[in-house]
Amino acid sequence: MINIAIDGTAGSGKGTISKLLAKKLGYYHLDTGAIYRSLTYFLIQEKVDLNDEKEICKTLEKIDFKVQFEKDKDGNQVQKNLLFGEDLKNKIRTEEISVSTSIISKFDCVRKFATKIQHELASKYDLIIEGRDIGTVVLPNADYKFFLTAKPEIRAKRRAEQLNQPQNYNKILKDIIERDEADMKRKSSPLKRADDAILIDNSFQTAFQTLSEMISYIK
Ligand code: DC
Repeated sequence: MINIAIDGTAGSGKGTISKLLAKKLGYYHLDTGAIYRSLTYFLIQEKVDLNDEKEICKTLEKIDFKVQFEKDKDGNQVQKNLLFGEDLKNKIRTEEISVSTSIISKFDCVRKFATKIQHELASKYDLIIEGRDIGTVVLPNADYKFFLTAKPEIRAKRRAEQLNQPQNYNKILKDIIERDEADMKRKSSPLKRADDAILIDNSFQTAFQTLSEMISYIK
């Protein structure tokens, strides 16, 4: 199987670009952030204290969670994040989930759980796999590795537009800076560029420009 790892900071365009690249190459696109977000959704539903590692690990033992790939009626690929059979869809895209996910994703049992799912899918499908620790920890032998980033102000502006909340720009910027810090400083699988990953700062690029730069590296 061919696996292309795309890591990067929050709001760096990883999602958009991974989808475009997957479509171009005919691969599946695995959004690993959605796995961490789904686990967070479950833990919040279960009213677990998100700072209590022991309780989190115990609660995760009873979860029924699966990732499934499907095609929609237009032939686009969709990733279903199934919690006890229910596709969580946009329920995992709120700012509350974003902030809470950053807290729980530092725990080893959470990372182990999510990594196992990623390994299973990577061994079964040609994948564009998008996350924070793919090139460093999950798939250190990925066929290609990219690390995307952009200036925090630009990432906040993109997120605010994506959420249709331009009035919340300052809060979103603050959350992005705090999330970068938390993701980079955690002991377990921190957000870090793999030594052999191609670094792309797309602050002043359109998604299509970033895409064509990436394609120029792929043989
Ligand atoms: O990419 P995203 O914004 O959906 O990710 C949400 C959170 O999940 C982010 O704060 C860090 C965490 N995450 C992670 O720790 N490892 C990954 N491979 C993907 C996401």
